Amino acid sequence: MSAAEELRQLAQKAAVCTACVLAETRTQVVFGVGALDADILLVGEAPGKNEDLQGEPFVGAAGKLLDRLLSEIGVDRQEAYIANVIKCRPPGNRDPRPAEIDSCKGYLRTQIELIDPKVVVTLGNFATKLLLRRDVGITRLRGQVYPWWRRHLVPTFHPAAALRGGDRVTNQMREDFALVSRLLDAPPETPAAAAPDESVEQLGLFE
Ligand code: URA
Repeated sequence: MSAAEELRQLAQKAAVCTACVLAETRTQVVFGVGALDADILLVGEAPGKNEDLQGEPFVGAAGKLLDRLLSEIGVDRQEAYIANVIKCRPPGNRDPRPAEIDSCKGYLRTQIELIDPKVVVTLGNFATKLLLRRDVGITRLRGQVYPWWRRHLVPTFHPAAALRGGDRVTNQMREDFALVSRLLDAPPETPAAAAPDESVEQLGLFE
């Protein structure tokens, strides 16, 4: 089966998922969007109100800022793949709960395996903690590139934090996106972190 078909089937499965309580309050599942051959995969936290209504991640104000930061490094939103840790909106935009993350993280894991991007960008604390498995805040983790699985991971602030924090935070996000741009331009290198046939799951990520 092609990666595109696998992803399509996974999205269909997610669309009727009832694995956690968020199924009771969501309008629809926000699975993820973008290019199947994307070099950059961005991971947010959870859909907000607009995303829940439109079925697409990052379509509100935070999404507009994200689009701008991407376009500044020459990446069109359609060329990237955008997903969230949690595929359903938590009521009132409360933080996702550990049980919700646990029941949802398999979708993200498979999305990353199938898209197989060069660079994963985690937006904010939730995505960064889940993928890097470090209980350290984003302020300390951002600004560097981490070898991750057989790719690179660049943690940065959540764009909603930049909307609240103003130019200082936005400019730090720009610095992080400049790191991403350099990685995207670099020739493919020998994977440092893992042998090419190891899957995200075998490496124990997302645990
Ligand atoms: N915030 C997120 O983390 N994800 C979205 O899709 C929208 C807002």
